Amino acid sequence: MNSMRFDVLTLFPEQIENNINASITGRAVKKGIISVNTVNIRDYCGNSYGKVDDTVYGGGTGLLITARSVYDSWNSLFDNDDDRPYTVYMSPKGHVFDQKKAVELSRKKRLCIICGHYEGIDSRAIDLICDEEISIGDYVLTGGELAACVVMDSVSRMIDGVLPNEEAFTDESHMGGTLEGKSFTMPSEWNGIKVPEVLLSGNDAAIEEYRRISSLVETWIKRPDMLDELDISESEWEKMLALRRTL
Ligand code: ADE
Repeated sequence: MNSMRFDVLTLFPEQIENNINASITGRAVKKGIISVNTVNIRDYCGNSYGKVDDTVYGGGTGLLITARSVYDSWNSLFDNDDDRPYTVYMSPKGHVFDQKKAVELSRKKRLCIICGHYEGIDSRAIDLICDEEISIGDYVLTGGELAACVVMDSVSRMIDGVLPNEEAFTDESHMGGTLEGKSFTMPSEWNGIKVPEVLLSGNDAAIEEYRRISSLVETWIKRPDMLDELDISESEWEKMLALRRTL
């Protein structure tokens, strides 16, 4: 059974705690499968008035969080180098986060996430302590906290025991380079629309085949760019065409 410890360096710990302690991740915290330790960067500002930021050398608008406050917060997390957590900085300059990265991060024992605010953090601290920068998309947020919650949520759900069963994520969108196909529940006919007959047939092999083709068709319609990465056989293309014609 794996588990994960998150250490989050932030000026707004409550934003992280309110999010992660709710719903499925909250249950995982209660069960001890994940743990979340927030560190308020302000506690390491090094002055009596709690000032963590200053103006940018060379001019420019806004304030930067000082290298010292971030470095000292990070340093408080471990006593010897063997315990040094894998460390990421949430930033719009980072690599865009995806499912592959979520899987990779879920294999770490300990993950430190640094959240910037205002104009960001003095680059010297980032360069010294961060293993990588991660963005959640090509837009700018007011701070890294929401982005950190996104990363923690998607990483947590891949830790054993967080979701009710493992299949819940092995079959879903993005895991095998495709989107999940359409899915249906009772009744078998609603509003004049019938659930595909094969799904009611009880024929496991036929259902599995339908799911694969349905997943490829969904990807073809909604994210055709993802098909470039896949090896689709001629007979699969024929089945995809046939299914698409019925939609
Ligand atoms: N901080 C500000 N904008 C961000 C983004 N797009 N991703 C991650 N962290 C951020």
